[in-house]
Amino acid sequence: MKNKERRPGATRKAPASGNNRSSSRPAAGQRRFEDAPARAESAKGRERPAAEAPRAAAQAEAQPARALIERSGERPAERVPVILETPGAGDFHLIDSGNQLKLEQYGPYRIVRPEGQALWKPSLPAHVWEKVDAVFTGDIDEEGAGRWRFPREALGETWPLQLLDVDFHGRFTSFRHVGVFPEQIVHWTWMKNEIEAAKRPLKVLNLFGYTGVASLVAARAGAEVTHVDASKKAIGWGRENQSLSRLDRAPIRWICEDAMKFIQREERRGNRYDIILTDPPKFGRGPNGEVWQLFDHLPLMLDICRELLSRDARGLVLTAYSIRASFYSIHELMRETMRGRGGVVESGELVIRESGLSGKETGRALSTSLFSRWVPK
Ligand SMILES: C[S@@+](CC[C@H](N)C(=O)[O-])C[C@H]1O[C@@H](n2cnc3c(N)ncnc32)[C@H](O)[C@@H]1O
Repeated sequence: MKNKERRPGATRKAPASGNNRSSSRPAAGQRRFEDAPARAESAKGRERPAAEAPRAAAQAEAQPARALIERSGERPAERVPVILETPGAGDFHLIDSGNQLKLEQYGPYRIVRPEGQALWKPSLPAHVWEKVDAVFTGDIDEEGAGRWRFPREALGETWPLQLLDVDFHGRFTSFRHVGVFPEQIVHWTWMKNEIEAAKRPLKVLNLFGYTGVASLVAARAGAEVTHVDASKKAIGWGRENQSLSRLDRAPIRWICEDAMKFIQREERRGNRYDIILTDPPKFGRGPNGEVWQLFDHLPLMLDICRELLSRDARGLVLTAYSIRASFYSIHELMRETMRGRGGVVESGELVIRESGLSGKETGRALSTSLFSRWVPK
């Protein structure tokens, strides 16, 4: 299925500006992420925020190591608003949504999960919503397992999925996630095309890479990939997915480290990348408890990412979810960061389009996150 890039004449009203960190609820239109894969294994074997233990040491380590570089030159051209829309791909599509829930198809399974933004009524009748394989019912702010219900038959924790020519495991995690964020399909498709069109193997850096689907798509297309995530568990899933995809021999470096620490070291070493994907949570922790706060650390992260771009770089892609901000806040930050580098910054929202039971219909659009992407032209 094709992914469309649409530039509507009129933008919808942006989510309210400002950063309400005390709120546990995601801002309208964006998936929450601090509850997701950032939560690594706890003593009980459940997902909890990565590396809770050495918190005191982490506070010190969380301090940015260098000042922002004073940028000069023109800001890149801009394209706004850009709505990047996917109707799904491979084994995934969004069947229906409504009543603050969404009904998705992941391979053989139909799954119902909470979706705060689906304020409308479902299109499909109740019996379709009832005849599903898994329902996430728990309050996402509470911890503990057992919030998946399997109305038809008991299901295992994982099942095979396929997307953009890579195989990986879907997974019923205790924080309602299933091991993949399908709204990223548009970025991954763009990246795949860039890699395949290049006349040399491109180097890709995937920061906050989670279970590695993007890393595998890049490797399958022929890139040399560096995948960074703070969660040992997520890195383990990524390696498993590499084997499932039969990409064992592909050049992927799996790095379990704090993303900020890693990029600062790469900058000192002079390593460069042609494509950088960064999908940071609002709040997260590195493996040694290093604190990641999006609103505090994003300017420096982008500043360093700019330094890590090769001379012939193809793009720097930022996604932001679960924050109370307009896409303009990351758009203008990206343009300031990329001053003097030319190219274009395009920003807006990632949305998933409902496509019904058949996966072929055209229903309503569900916004998932904000993005900003610098490309050389
Ligand atoms: C929402 S996920 C990214 C999803 C990924 N882009 C995808 O589409 O598959 C956020 C990830 O950030 C990781 N994380 C959180 N804090 C981190 C930190 N300080 N350094 C590196 N990774 C971190 C979490 O473990 C989690 O896997």
